[in-house]
This record gives sequence, structure tokens and C-alpha cells, in this order.
Amino acid sequence: MRFIIDTEENIAKLAAQRYVQLLGKQPDAVLGFATGSTPLGLYGELARLCEAGEVSFRNVTSFNLDEYAGLDGSHDQSYRYFMDKNLFEKIDIDRSRTFVPSGLDIAAAADYDKAIEAAGGIELQLLGIGNNGHIGFNEPGTPFESLTHLVELTESTRQANARFFSSIDEVPTQSVTMGIRTVMNARSIMLMALGKGKAEIVRKSFTGPVTPEVPASVLQLHPFVEVYLDYEAASLL
Ligand code: GLP
Repeated sequence: MRFIIDTEENIAKLAAQRYVQLLGKQPDAVLGFATGSTPLGLYGELARLCEAGEVSFRNVTSFNLDEYAGLDGSHDQSYRYFMDKNLFEKIDIDRSRTFVPSGLDIAAAADYDKAIEAAGGIELQLLGIGNNGHIGFNEPGTPFESLTHLVELTESTRQANARFFSSIDEVPTQSVTMGIRTVMNARSIMLMALGKGKAEIVRKSFTGPVTPEVPASVLQLHPFVEVYLDYEAASLL
């Protein structure tokens, strides 16, 4: 596990360079994307680099981590909508090769891992981290062997994400997420965390015991993980 610690601005730039290098060598790489506020700087940087002709996503296939159950992709709080607005519409990716779990067709979750495998498997999976250590929407207690599945969101996750909705009542109670095994199947993983609020869970995840109670701690068992942190998120390491 490699830690890259810098300012928030530099973290976005350094993380973006990882994509420039990867796609330079492997233009048709399969990428795993994440939502949340943390990757926004990175996505802005990727859009800028793509516009400048320094990176191309033309031959990329992508799979997103998760989606709220019950939200259609046109809902402005759906993760499909988030990806379209914050990344896909700003880069040269072929939208028909961008996949986000369906929030409406829950049964289709069972085929998501097969689709990833059929595409060749994920080369680089991007992750944020929830305050309770969740990755994707894999809440504490999720078995390490889980594949893409429907989950009940914890109250703390609903509250943390309520800032994007007009009230907590509108935050969905369930979501479809890649499982822990799905994430661990990626050949390399990049986790990003920013701000003081993530410092304690970063410490627990990467210096504490590996346990399903802290889902991100499983990453200690993966052979190629890079953790991109700003100084605040790294302050308790
Ligand atoms: C959500 C997403 C996660 C994300 C987390 C943290 O719950 N499902 O993938 O990592 O929020 O979000 P933020 O980056 O806004 O702190």
C-alpha cells in the first residue's frame, strides 16, 4: 500500500496523472469510477487534461461502484446523473460503454460482476470512503466475499448524504453497490480521502485490524492500493 499525501489541489493533479499514465499505456483500460464530493477535483482535472489533448477516454469502458435504489438515471441525485454531469459529458468517453448499476432493475445487480468480467476486469478502481469506513455502499458488517448486491443504507450514511437532497426523507433507504469482492477483484485500487472529518476512519482503515466492521480495512489485503490523502485526512496516521 502506497500513501500519497499532499494538498487537496495537488492530490487531484497527482491522481489525474495516474490516469494519464495508465491510458497512455493501455488506452482501452477498464476503469471503475466513484461518486461523492471527494473525486470532484480529480474529475475536473481529467476534464481539463482531456480538453487539452493530454489524455483520451475514447476506448475506455467504465463501471461505477453504486447507485441509489429507486432513482432513475435522470434523477438529479442519481449517481448516473452525477457521472454524466461531472465527468462523462466533459471527456471523450463513449457513453454507451459507461456502466452504472441500475437503481430500478434491482435483479440486474446479479449480472454486474459478469459484465465486469466479460469486459476484462477492472484495471483501476477509484474509491472514496464513508465516515464509517464504507466503500461503495458496503456498510460495516458486509461480508468480504460479497458481489454486487442490494443494501440497506445505515442512518449515518443517509444523514451524511442528506446534504445533497432537500431533506433526509428524500434520501433513498437502499442502494445497489459493487460488493467487497467486486472491488478487491480490481487489479489496482486508488482510494482518495480529503479533510479532517476523514482522518479517524483513514487511521482505523489502514493502521487498524482488517475487519468487516471497517469495510475499507480489507484494502490492506490487496496487492496494489494507492491511498491519496490531503494533509488533514492523513493527520492521524
Ligand atoms: C457515498 C458513496 C461513496 C463515497 C462516500 C463518501 O456514500 N457511495 O462511494 O465514497 O459517499 O462521500 P464523500 O466523498 O462526499 O465524502
